[in-house]
Amino acid sequence: MSQESTVPGELGDPAVRGAEIAEPGAVTIVVPTFNESANVRELLHRITESVPTRLPCEVVFVDDSTDDTPEVISEAAQDCPFPVTVLHREEPVGGLGGAVVEGIKAATSDWIVVMDGDLQHPPSLVPELVGTGERANAGLVVASRYIKGGSREGLAGGYRIAVSRGATWLTKTLFPRKLRGISDPMSGFFAIRRSAVTAEALKPLGYKILLELAVRSRPRQVTEVPFVFQDRFAGESKSTAQEGFRFLRHLLGLRTASPVARMVVFGLIGATGFIPNLVGLWALTKTGMHYVPAEILANQLGVAWNFYLIEHLLFRDRRRHRNWWDRAGRFALLANADLVLRIPLIALFIHKFGMGALSATALALITTFVLRFVGTEALVYLPSRKGSRKESRTAPRRAE
Ligand code: GDD
Ligand code: MN
Repeated sequence: MSQESTVPGELGDPAVRGAEIAEPGAVTIVVPTFNESANVRELLHRITESVPTRLPCEVVFVDDSTDDTPEVISEAAQDCPFPVTVLHREEPVGGLGGAVVEGIKAATSDWIVVMDGDLQHPPSLVPELVGTGERANAGLVVASRYIKGGSREGLAGGYRIAVSRGATWLTKTLFPRKLRGISDPMSGFFAIRRSAVTAEALKPLGYKILLELAVRSRPRQVTEVPFVFQDRFAGESKSTAQEGFRFLRHLLGLRTASPVARMVVFGLIGATGFIPNLVGLWALTKTGMHYVPAEILANQLGVAWNFYLIEHLLFRDRRRHRNWWDRAGRFALLANADLVLRIPLIALFIHKFGMGALSATALALITTFVLRFVGTEALVYLPSRKGSRKESRTAPRRAE
């Protein structure tokens, strides 16, 4: 990442800058930008107009642009009475959310306001977000379109409104407790106290960074301020259908953060494996194959299906510890061990513990399922001890 600092005067020195910022209530405005060269000058202008001098402020752009946005920012920053920094990333890791987290890590103030670079979020609200947070002693202040006084005027088209409403409903349903008090978890405009952010615990993926922060950092006190989502000043939205899939993956990642939730999803994926298994069995027996080898082969089809889904939906970010062949081999071994283990286990339950055939089978199914889940986590997707040591050594260096 290249850091281009366009801080006026001696404020470039972080020590001096730290001394400049009055406590409490200084704010770092973090703006993610992707090809917003036609917007950033106006944005800085409006921030200059909106933020009173008694609220010390700095602006950090985290930029993944392929156009001249960083240059335009540098030039416009000359006219700003506050420090402006551009962090340009060569690799847009985590997209918009990843960019915001980089900005949060670079922030030095008590308060961080995250806002878009296209003026859909009115800069005039920045002081109110921080002021409300101070008064309410809150850790997070969300600018919401869904409370009285707010609206989504600038959200173009019935289709986008429907998608936005559906996504909000789904998200609130999946996290009723963690999102209590947040009417607009999809908002990209909010103020958060730096002390409320656990940056290292975040795994941002795409657009919904507030959701990520609310669920993983869980600030203690949350409050909201209404806002009107404006029209874009210039250019067009960078959100794509692909971003929609990224959002669903993000939701699944957040929802399966606990082992119990992961086990449920593991089970659901496992259940869908019956489909390829049965189709395979049908096709193979149709060719005249005896049902025993057909069963064994068809089962491998189910295993492959499960492996594919589990790799992509459940353990996507835990794949790097082993190579594909290693993971596939271990996964297949565990899946087949499950089958081989089940029969003697049923026999054991019946003959040793006097259970009925049905309950013995049910218990054996549950036992092998739990063993398989625990085995898959531990033997396929957990880093080996050597790997985890290496990881903890490199982590702080990456954060520098
Ligand atoms: N650094 C970086 N990297 N910035 C990005 C990226 C990226 O990959 N993608 C988008 N951005 C920046 C844009 O340049 C803009 O400043 C801001 O993130 C929002 O992007 P838009 O493309 O304008 O998003 P939107 O208007 O469709 O969505 C906004 O409103 C939604 C509510 O309907 C965002 O604020 C969403 O987070 C929000 O949910
Ligand atoms: Mn926008």
